[in-house]
Amino acid sequence: MRIDLRSDTATRPTARMRQAMADAEVGDDGFGEDPTVNLLQERCAEAVGKEAAVYVASGTMANQLAMLVLARPGHRVVCGQGAHVATKEAGASALLGGLSFTQLATTTGEIPAEVLSAALNDGGPPVDLIVVENTHQSCGGYPWRPEALAGLRAGADAARVPVYMDGARIFNAAVATGVPVRAYTDSVSALMFCLSKSLGAPVGSVVCGPASFVGEVRERKLQLGGGWRQAGVLAAAGLVALEEAPGRLHEDHATAQQLATGMASISPEVTDPDAVRTNIVFADPSPLGASAQQVAARLKEAGVLCKAGRTRLRLVTHRDISPADIEQCLAAWSAVAKQYTARSRAVA
Ligand SMILES: Cc1ncc(COP(=O)(O)O)c(C=O)c1O
Repeated sequence: MRIDLRSDTATRPTARMRQAMADAEVGDDGFGEDPTVNLLQERCAEAVGKEAAVYVASGTMANQLAMLVLARPGHRVVCGQGAHVATKEAGASALLGGLSFTQLATTTGEIPAEVLSAALNDGGPPVDLIVVENTHQSCGGYPWRPEALAGLRAGADAARVPVYMDGARIFNAAVATGVPVRAYTDSVSALMFCLSKSLGAPVGSVVCGPASFVGEVRERKLQLGGGWRQAGVLAAAGLVALEEAPGRLHEDHATAQQLATGMASISPEVTDPDAVRTNIVFADPSPLGASAQQVAARLKEAGVLCKAGRTRLRLVTHRDISPADIEQCLAAWSAVAKQYTARSRAVA
């Protein structure tokens, strides 16, 4: 048994995806001639209500290309605390774009207009771009409220600063809040979303926005060696993901809720099911007298893979995780929690 909750990138292509990949019509994407890539780009742009889209290898590549176009070296990007662009990608942005980041305090990922305004007027280097992450991963996969994003956009417009969305999991946000994805995307100048995360495709992300912006992103993509030729074999799976996945994401939110509720019923102090809004569960095992690394190692021995951060465990549900898998995870969790509880009693 191996249940992989490290990330929603863990999904394997479905039979329909594999068939579509085998049957894909292809051409040279370096010349813009791969019909399957082109179709995917059209469908993605349409899905989020933007003029154009470009298919790239990863979410990181998508964010980096977009920021290369939207922000100048020596200038700043403002985002919510813990945003992927300012944490995992900060080195890439320093190297490629000469950018620095100001992370604004937030518990949900949302940035209130007054907090934005203070940052834009703090006397630091010029702010070229505001990045919103939706869902905000490190805040527990929190979905922005569409009205909060519209409020931020109004403040950004007043200051003439564009808003870009790292929408790696934008479809999860729309499902969780029960709005069409355009309720979000209409409030941003440009965005990226991942096909390879919750949508369950094997590879790729798309950058979407006005045609002139996407044209520049495409130029940068080719400069960085991102011309990936007969990529239609990958895009074919992306098309299946885009068609099938948004309609089933509520299942991943339900398994995440099942997991958090089950863990909290065994160890009430480690996680809060009410904080789980999409497919991401964070748990802090310190009340058990154990570190995140120790607990992750124990769970791994029991066949359950999760990510251990400095203090928290992250468990992400996805298409390949069933309610029965969650029951197995909870059995493993129960055994590990008992071990640590018994150990801390023995020490006391
Ligand atoms: C919010 C967010 N943005 C961007 C990325 C980067 O995506 P990738 O792993 O495809 O480079 C991630 C990856 O975890 C993410 O969670």
